[in-house]
Amino acid sequence: MRQLESLLKRKIEKVIEMKNVISKSIKEWLTEALINEIVGFRRDLHQYPELSGEEYETSKKIQAKLEEYGIPFKTGFAKTGVLGVINGGKPGGTVALRADIDALPIQERNEHEFVSKIEGKMHACGHDSHTAMLLGAGYILQQLKDELPGKVLLVFQPAEELAPIGGAEQMIKDGVFAEDVPDAIFAQHVWPDLPVGKIGVRQNEMMGASDRFKIVIKGSGGHASMPHQTTDAIIVANQVITSLQTIVSRNVDPLDPAVITIGRIEGGYRYNVVADEVTLEGTVRTLKKQTKKKVKERFFSIVKGVAESFNAHAEIDYLDGYPATMNTPEWAVLVKETVINSFGQNAAPEVAPSLGGEDFSRFLLNYPGVYYWLGTAIDTGDPQKPLHDPQFKLNEKAFPIGIEMMVNVAINALVKLENELT
Ligand code: NI
Repeated sequence: MRQLESLLKRKIEKVIEMKNVISKSIKEWLTEALINEIVGFRRDLHQYPELSGEEYETSKKIQAKLEEYGIPFKTGFAKTGVLGVINGGKPGGTVALRADIDALPIQERNEHEFVSKIEGKMHACGHDSHTAMLLGAGYILQQLKDELPGKVLLVFQPAEELAPIGGAEQMIKDGVFAEDVPDAIFAQHVWPDLPVGKIGVRQNEMMGASDRFKIVIKGSGGHASMPHQTTDAIIVANQVITSLQTIVSRNVDPLDPAVITIGRIEGGYRYNVVADEVTLEGTVRTLKKQTKKKVKERFFSIVKGVAESFNAHAEIDYLDGYPATMNTPEWAVLVKETVINSFGQNAAPEVAPSLGGEDFSRFLLNYPGVYYWLGTAIDTGDPQKPLHDPQFKLNEKAFPIGIEMMVNVAINALVKLENELT
C-alpha cells in the first residue's frame, strides 16, 4: 500500500515538475518575434497556394524551416509529405501532431495585402495556417526537447482536399510511421464559427463521413414539340433530385444527422431539343456507419427505380469517401483538460459535430487521437465567411493560442504516456 502511494506521489510530482518547467519555458519561447515569423510564413504560403498532390514548393519551404530550426526530417510520404522528428531527452512514448498543407481550386476574392497570387488557387481552408502553426509549435518543442519524455512527430500531410483519395492513407503506406509508431495523434483545424480564444473538442464523433457521387441519366432525345417520342432526361433528373431528398426527410431518424446535396447538374443542348442525357454530381454526409449504409442503399434504389419508372437508365458512380472523424474519448479528455489548464474554463465550449469530411479520419482509423477546432472568427466587422468560401478569412490573433495549444497537447500527452509506462 505504502509502495503504491509513493508511486502515485512520484507520478503526480513528475507531472507538476514537468508542467512548471514547461510553462515557464513556453512563455520564454513564444515571443512576438516567433509569432511574427510564423504569421509571415503563413502569408507567404497564402500567396503561393498549391493544389492537392502538387505541394512541391510548399514542401520545400517546410523543409527549409525545419532545417533552420534544427529539426531532423524525412520526405517523400505521399510525394510531398514531410515528417519532422523531435527526439526528447528522456525515453517515453511517441506523439504525432499533423497539419495539412494543400490549397483549393478556388479564385480568391479577398483584398488583403497577402491575397493569393496564383490564378484559381486559394488557401480557403486555413491549411496555410495549420502548417505555419505546426512549425511554430515544432520550434518551441525543439527548444524544450531535453525535458521531453519521448518523441514528437511533426506530420505535414498533402492532398487533404483530394477526397476520397486524400493523402493520409498514402503517407501511412509510404511508411511515415514505420520507425516511430504514434501512441496518439492530434490535428488542429481553424474554425470560423468559434471566436479567438475558444477551442472546440468532443469525444467520439467530430466530423462526418463524406461520400461523393455522379449520376448519368440516359433517356432519348427529340424535338421539343414532340415529347411523346422521347424520354426526357431533364424530367427524369428532376424526379430523381426530388425523390432523393425524401431519404433524409423520411428514411433517416430526425435526430441523426444526414445530408444529400446535388452540387452540379448538366444536360441538354438548346431550348427546343429534348435532352437525352443529364449528369448530376453531389455528396452524401453522415455521422454514423449504419446511417451511411442506409442512405447509400436508399440512394441506389431511388435513382435506379425512378429512372426505370420513366423508361430511362441511370448509371451511378458512388465513391465512398472519408469515414467519420471519431476522436478517442480518453485523448479527447486530455485535449479538453489542456484547453482549460492553458486558457481557462470558458475556452472549452460544448460543440456539436460538423458534417464536413476530413482525411485525418484515416489516421484515426489506425491510431488513437483527436481532431479539434481552433477558434479563428474574424473580429473586424466584415462578414464571417465559411471554410472553402472565396472570401474566407481567418484571424491571425489565434496563432499564439494555436501554437501554445499544440505544444501543450504534445507535452501533456507525453506526460500521460510516461505515467502509463512507469
Ligand atoms: Ni481543411
